[in-house]
Amino acid sequence: MRKFLIAGNWKMNCTPSEAALLLEGIKEKKGEVSEEVDVLVCPPFVSLSMAVNYLHETDIQVGAQNMHFESSGAYTGEISASMIAESGCNYVILGHSERREYFNEDDELINKKIGQAISNDLAPILCVGESLEQRKAGEQKMVVGKQIRAALEGINTDQVLNVVIAYEPIWAIGTGETATPEQAQQMHKFIRDLVSEIYDSDVATSLRILYGGSMKPANADELLSQPDVDGGLIGGASLDADSFTEIITIAEKLS
Ligand code: 13P
Repeated sequence: MRKFLIAGNWKMNCTPSEAALLLEGIKEKKGEVSEEVDVLVCPPFVSLSMAVNYLHETDIQVGAQNMHFESSGAYTGEISASMIAESGCNYVILGHSERREYFNEDDELINKKIGQAISNDLAPILCVGESLEQRKAGEQKMVVGKQIRAALEGINTDQVLNVVIAYEPIWAIGTGETATPEQAQQMHKFIRDLVSEIYDSDVATSLRILYGGSMKPANADELLSQPDVDGGLIGGASLDADSFTEIITIAEKLS
């Protein structure tokens, strides 16, 4: 059976002192997590090392929210995969819709980042998802399928075993509007079938597909109960220790 992954994407929230407080709250409530669930927090870059040190003796892992596609060089202001890995992180979120929209990240760039992350032993959390307009036009499968094929171009079977995919319909991010469990399941199943087609059924079976978009304690149970939903990538609700740890508890109960 696949293990749930409950991941918090803090986005551009929390100064280091605020991050320390939030981590303290999470650790207090959930320093010990059932073996059936993986838990991850993704704070801003400046708090990564602190988070790794602070969570050292817990089961909670730390990830970054972005990285550059080159290994080093004259890229002022950028952060490389090896810097993130050496800070003690295991994961990196890539291709988030906010990066696609506000920083013009395209599929080709995201594909380069995926390769670079894997080469540095970071598990990429590849975010995909359609806009409201695309959903209204019934194009969600076409859009997500294209994003996945492009992001995984040239990534071989061994490498793809490190990849996590997060289905995040853009219309559900930060809007309070969540995909229905049926809508989420339909897209997750589509993604798993696609990965089976590109690779094979073993890869597809072991692939973790997270749902993201206004996940909170009130809807986590019905979303995580879907057969192809293997966890959540949580924005707003991950900034509140009670809400985040409650979602972890829900995942533990479903395991
Ligand atoms: P919200 O949970 O705030 O909708 O954000 C989801 C998200 O973008 C996670 O990456």
